[in-house]
Amino acid sequence: MKYWTFFSEQARKPTGIFGRFYMSRVFEKGNAELNALMFETVPMEENDHVLEIGCGTGMLIKHIADNLSQGLIEGIDFSKQMVAMARKKNKKHLNSGQVKIHLGDFEQAEFEANSFDKIYTAHTIYFWKKPGDTIAKIHRILRPGGRLVIGFRDKSEMEKMPLNKDIFKYYSAQDLKELLVNHGALAEIDIVFKKSDQITNYCAVCMKSKT
Ligand SMILES: C[S@@+](CC[C@H](N)C(=O)[O-])C[C@H]1O[C@@H](n2cnc3c(N)ncnc32)[C@H](O)[C@@H]1O
Repeated sequence: MKYWTFFSEQARKPTGIFGRFYMSRVFEKGNAELNALMFETVPMEENDHVLEIGCGTGMLIKHIADNLSQGLIEGIDFSKQMVAMARKKNKKHLNSGQVKIHLGDFEQAEFEANSFDKIYTAHTIYFWKKPGDTIAKIHRILRPGGRLVIGFRDKSEMEKMPLNKDIFKYYSAQDLKELLVNHGALAEIDIVFKKSDQITNYCAVCMKSKT
């Protein structure tokens, strides 16, 4: 297998020693600014019930939990290595019951309808096999008035990397907006972005209609 196909597979689902020791560093270093942008754009409020899909090493979950005294933050990831790291990083909050981290595929997982105030997901849309179904599932489990926050990098920037396009599907901000408009009653769609030295991070935010 070529290196970039292997790397792309690891980015989708980290496994083994490479996943545990190398990809975790790539995520922590490379995704910190995007995670911060997502939290700045839609901060959590006391008593919120939050889900992070594809929580990786658990850095966003920790940031949220460190800044809140009440509320429940759940994360799901289908990589054993990432879940182990996220649990280690959030040990204190897991023990207090403020955080729950599930090992599993979001597509298959069962969450109660209308139960989350906020759902965050960073750098996972590229891997959604049936994006319409994933959006519909997110819509079902958000409570009315709840918000979805998708962190991503634009197609034009992703195309500069030699990633495997059978594994990664790229979206422009406009593509993502259209996906959200065309699937389910997600309203008030907004796309914000922040430039840093080398890259621009994007964050799509939308709300489940209250009616
Ligand atoms: C590129 S990493 C991003 C991790 C983290 N969100 C961050 O910003 O550092 C994608 C993560 O999503 C997880 N993932 C991808 N598809 C998933 C799915 N269908 N269900 C659960 N986890 C998934 C992977 O295991 C991986 O940890």
